[in-house]
Parts: sequence; structure tokens; C-alpha cells
Amino acid sequence: TDGDAHERIRAARARLGDKAVLLCHHYQRADVYQYADLTGDSLKLSRLAAETDAEYIVFCGVHFMAEVADIMSKPHQMAILPDLAAGCSMADMANLAKVERCWRELTEVLETPDALITPVTYINSAADLKAFCGEHGGIVCTSTNAPTILDWAFAQREKVLFFPDQHLGRWTGFNKGIPLDEMVVWDPDLEYGGLSFDQIKKAKILLWKGHCSVHQMFQPAHIIKFRNQYPDGFVISHPESALEVCRQSDYVGSTEYIINLIKNAAPNTRWLVGTELNLVNRLAEEVKHEGKIVQFMAPTVCMCSTMQRIDPQHLAWTLENLADGKVVNRISVPEHEAALAKVALERMLAVS
Ligand code: 13P
Ligand code: SF4
Repeated sequence: TDGDAHERIRAARARLGDKAVLLCHHYQRADVYQYADLTGDSLKLSRLAAETDAEYIVFCGVHFMAEVADIMSKPHQMAILPDLAAGCSMADMANLAKVERCWRELTEVLETPDALITPVTYINSAADLKAFCGEHGGIVCTSTNAPTILDWAFAQREKVLFFPDQHLGRWTGFNKGIPLDEMVVWDPDLEYGGLSFDQIKKAKILLWKGHCSVHQMFQPAHIIKFRNQYPDGFVISHPESALEVCRQSDYVGSTEYIINLIKNAAPNTRWLVGTELNLVNRLAEEVKHEGKIVQFMAPTVCMCSTMQRIDPQHLAWTLENLADGKVVNRISVPEHEAALAKVALERMLAVS
């Protein structure tokens, strides 16, 4: 039962002491989030993973986050993901075979992509794609540092290949004043991304055709309805939302940014929030005593179903095994791949 799982978690943690640290993303369900030692958005969590000294980094988040923890950790540390099926559907929209095919096709059109294009991968991607960026003079970005990273990328080369999230790439480029017709979508399932050679030559940013299934639910109509009902209310969205949603929001930023902005806002304010439901529900509870009302953007329930997989039962099982000295669900990136991925991650940490 749930009750048993919570007792088991507490007992196993007591046995583990400071051998294990629990890192938790803001989208985690409340019954897991309560056990977090450290919480954050993807950027903050990648820094925390590099700083901790605990032997086991138990990552309550999704697969790519645990991979980053493994890559950034020291040799004596291990990254653990309580449920190996906790992936990210957006990250799965790009893979190395498809990105390599894209690079080959770009070589046919542009001859020297390595001199002309900086590959930028959103941190929501597999480790081998980060390694691809490390190898090709590219970089990783998160929702927090995407504007700084895009400046860095354009300082290296004249074009950017941005994957896997077209929305974060488009919103970031839009804010730099890049015309929409110079940000074209590369469909990895079509030859040359479904683009003409002219479109490729003219493009400033090639946006991989990927998206987040949670954030694609938010629509401008939700914002219009809210503004009609509450003209004094504020709208805040995560940049994985579509361009029109971001444009119509008062504020756009990472999960950590959203939480801090609303926590520090004036009392008795009303907020429409376009990001995952667990975060929104928790935040609504935390600020309601100040008279702040926090509302979820979509009329339907949209959670990150893969984050949701990390439940108290999986956490209890994982911690008990670790406390018994048995390592389970370790996420271990192959050495060569990890070394190249680290190059791209360290470039990111150095510039952001
Ligand atoms: P943050 O880095 O803003 O926490 O975003 C992670 C994520 O997966 C959002 O969907
Ligand atoms: Fe991936 Fe979307 Fe879940 Fe974030 S909310 S982890 S982008 S599926």
C-alpha cells in the first residue's frame, strides 16, 4: 500500500544517511517531491549533480536528467533512476541516426556544415546527441539559458541546427529578431527535412520537428478566455509552449523561473500558468495563503506521464536495494560518449 511505501522510504533513507541524495525535478508528483533533498529546473539540477558528493544520486525526474547527473558526477558516484521507463517523449523525437542523416544531407547542400552550422541540443535529449554536439563544436541549452546559448552559437557560425524542441528554438530565435521564414522546420522523416535547397541555404535556424506532448496542449484561446474573465490577471508559460502562446503570455521561462516569479509576486494576484500540472497544483497550494490564485492553463488534465512513473513504490524499492548494498536502476553513459557529451555540457555551464 501507499502507507507501507512511505514507511519503507523513511526507513531506507535512515539506513542510507548521506550516502544517497535525492534530486527532484519540479514536475514530480507531491508524494515523491516531499522527499527531495534538492529541487530545481534542468539547469539547476545539472549544476547540483556536478556539486554533490553523495555516492548515490537518486534522480526523481526523467532519463536524460539522470544521464546528465552521471556525466557530470565524479567517478565514485552513481546516478540512479527509480523507474527506468521514465523517459521524455520529446527527447525521443530525435535520435543519433536521424541527426547524423540530417548532418549528411546538410553536407550535400552546404558542403561544410561544420564550418557553417552550430548544432544546439536542448538538454531534453539523449546523451549521444549531446556527444554529437560536443564533437561538432556545438553546445547544450536549457529553457533558462537558451538566449545566451543562441548568442554563443551564432558567434561561432552563421547558422544553428536546434533539436529536438522546435518551440523553444523558435521562441528564442523570435526574441533575437530572426524573421520567422528564416527559422524553418526540419522534418527528420523526410529527405532534406522536407525543405528545398534554397530554404536550407537561407535559413538562420533549422528547427527539428519535435515538441512536448504536455506543452502542446496550451492554446492562445485559453489565454484569451482568461484575459476576458480576469483582465488584471497575469499569464506565464514555459517556452516549450507554441510561439503564439508564448507571445500572448506576460512572462515566459523555466519551471524554476515560474515558481520564483509567482512566489515573489504581489499578494492577491491571479495567475494562469502554462506548464505541467503537478507543479501548478503545488504552487497554487503554497501561495494561496497570500491570496494568490494560480490556475492551470488547459481545461484538460495534462501531466508529464513519464515523470509520473516515479512513484513512492518505485522509490521505496530503489532505496531499500541501495541500503542493502545492491545497486539497481543505475544510469551509466558509455565512457567515450560521456566524455564528448561533457564537452557540450561544460561549454553550456561556462557560458551560462
Ligand atoms: P525546466 O528546465 O524548465 O525545468 O524544463 C524541463 C522540462 O522538461 C520541461 O518540460
Ligand atoms: Fe519531456 Fe514534456 Fe515531460 Fe518535460 S514535460 S520531461 S519535455 S515530456
